[in-house]
Amino acid sequence: MNKPLRYVQIGIGGFGQWWCNAFLPRLKKLGLAEAVAAVDINPDAFPIARNSLSLPDAKIYTDAEKAVSENKPDFITIVVPPAFHEQMVDIAVKYNCHILSEKPIADTMAACCRIYKKVKAANLKMAVTMSHRFDQDKMSLEAEIKSGKYGRLNYIMHRFTCNCRKFASWGKFRHEIPDPLLVEGTVHHFDILRALSGADAATVYAKTWNPPWGEYAGDSTGLIILEMTNGVRCFYEGAKANASALNCWGNDYLRAECENATLELDKRNLRVIRDGQGRLMSQDLPLLEQEAWTNFLLAEMFCHWLNGTRADHPTNLDDNIQCAALLFAAIESAHTGKPVNVQDFLKKNLEA
Ligand SMILES: NC(=O)c1ccc[n+]([C@@H]2O[C@H](COP(=O)([O-])OP(=O)(O)OC[C@H]3O[C@@H](n4cnc5c(N)ncnc54)[C@H](O)[C@@H]3O)[C@@H](O)[C@H]2O)c1
Repeated sequence: MNKPLRYVQIGIGGFGQWWCNAFLPRLKKLGLAEAVAAVDINPDAFPIARNSLSLPDAKIYTDAEKAVSENKPDFITIVVPPAFHEQMVDIAVKYNCHILSEKPIADTMAACCRIYKKVKAANLKMAVTMSHRFDQDKMSLEAEIKSGKYGRLNYIMHRFTCNCRKFASWGKFRHEIPDPLLVEGTVHHFDILRALSGADAATVYAKTWNPPWGEYAGDSTGLIILEMTNGVRCFYEGAKANASALNCWGNDYLRAECENATLELDKRNLRVIRDGQGRLMSQDLPLLEQEAWTNFLLAEMFCHWLNGTRADHPTNLDDNIQCAALLFAAIESAHTGKPVNVQDFLKKNLEA
């Protein structure tokens, strides 16, 4: 049995609260990892670390570098807004720690590429918590598509629509940054589409905007077309300022048009639809069952990767840089009005 890994949790307000309350205690219960310190610039968040991670006051910091240098963890977690991810990665590299980070890798393609190179050069392990791709409903749909039972995959439709039009209803910083739908929302959906299609993106064409009633500085709404490297096409509708939350987080709509059947996932209900004797034949499909999904699963796999009981992690940097390339290529397309070749975009940015 390996000794539990030691980590410093960076970011315990916002979504970090959920990390502390929901799945980090499970890592301790499994004997995989335990918190040795926690950090947040806002002391109002400190009680979370005291109560959920059982840390004494002396191990709760406002300064991430101090926390890491004094506690020498095996890894750090990054749960602060994307504009601060690189700063935390630099601390990890300086103190030789592995990294489990929230998405996206960073808030610009240039920062994502710098992080990719720095972490690789330091021979450290980094994984990104693409929680929604590892949700039960998405993994069930992926397994059905890849089962081969329905023939070849032709194209995918994806709808994600929420009512978060009021300022701060989707967390304050998202109403203030450029391209909030893409950076904070669609990045997950792109990753889901990569998994379902079984390929990276070849080209992306995006139209994004903010309707007059959306209290956002950046674009909250978008319609996007993707062509994947294996020829599968995807159409994506994303909206954070709609009048209704028809298909919001965890309840999105996906339809995979296969050669011999239509697979539909709507608010976590999965079914297969075929034509039969003049009418539609629909059959509900059971979701996969296993103990852990989303970040519960990703964090557990990360610990196994670090302690050597797993050879790799599905959202390592080599995988996730493709997701970042698709995200920022879509942003470039939205800003220029032109389709973008995603693989050329990635190559150009990695070589810059
Ligand atoms: N996977 C998901 O479903 C999901 C959901 C929500 C957020 N996220 C991700 O989690 C990350 C954080 O988002 P959030 O919603 O928690 O943001 P937030 O603004 O609500 O909270 C961020 C926390 O980080 C702290 N912080 C900011 N800068 C810091 C610094 N330099 N050092 C230490 N602490 C600092 C803030 O005080 C705050 O407590 C983002 O990358 C976001 O994309 C992912």
